[in-house]
Amino acid sequence: MDTLKSALEAFPSRFPDLRELRYFEQTDSTNRQARQLGQAGVPAPCLVVANGQSAGRGRLGRHWESPAGQGLYFSLLLQPQLPAEQAPLLTLAAGLAIKHALEGFGVKDLLVKWPNDVIIQGKKVGGVLSEMETRGSEMLFVILGIGLNISQKKSDFPQELQETAASLDQLHPGVWHRDKVLEKILGELFQEIKNLEAEKVDQLIKRWEQESGFLGKKIKVEKSGQQLQGKVHGLDMEGHLLLETAPGKIVTLIAEDTTLI
Ligand code: BTN
Repeated sequence: MDTLKSALEAFPSRFPDLRELRYFEQTDSTNRQARQLGQAGVPAPCLVVANGQSAGRGRLGRHWESPAGQGLYFSLLLQPQLPAEQAPLLTLAAGLAIKHALEGFGVKDLLVKWPNDVIIQGKKVGGVLSEMETRGSEMLFVILGIGLNISQKKSDFPQELQETAASLDQLHPGVWHRDKVLEKILGELFQEIKNLEAEKVDQLIKRWEQESGFLGKKIKVEKSGQQLQGKVHGLDMEGHLLLETAPGKIVTLIAEDTTLI
């Protein structure tokens, strides 16, 4: 039996850093809820979890399919001790946290596709949507929204996603408990955030290069209306992707949508 809601009761003692926790049986978007809570002055870190979302949001204005009971949908409202320009690095930290958490359940062949896609055996299983609220140059809070497909069957996805998306259960059949996955990801994520706050930016960058599985991959991308292809060379210290489009020619990507080829 899936016990997401009841398992959350143990989270405040399991995660003493967590200052607030909200659960919704159904909501529009946990990222939107988290933003509202942040604007209302709810203390961070605050975890917002939903059983289902009616208007789940993905990156670049996309929709995130969020059928009730079949996925993990949560957002973490944070006030990290980081300069605003380092906030985008949290997306990379979240990608690594998800990878390590899922590997802890025996998942193999997992790749974090820059900046935020969780890819298993070539299929998109999850993603991270990070958003920031600022006042002038001051960062008020950050929201890290994470979505993972857990138990959908192929036919549960809309036709247009059936070849590119998949759930953990499709790729690693077994009993997937959403609360256990959430607990493991949160543990990894809090550790990553602490490391980053301890000014370990260069270590995060190095680890992401070594552990994401993305280094050396061939990708295509559209940048400023131009189609580019190349090999992933690494990251710069701001977490931008360095793409080698020809021997010795490096193009920097800021937030573009990359496709594996
Ligand atoms: C992406 O890959 O484009 C990012 C998807 C992020 C989806 C999650 S589900 C929980 C949180 N609430 C949202 O509305 N979006 C994120």
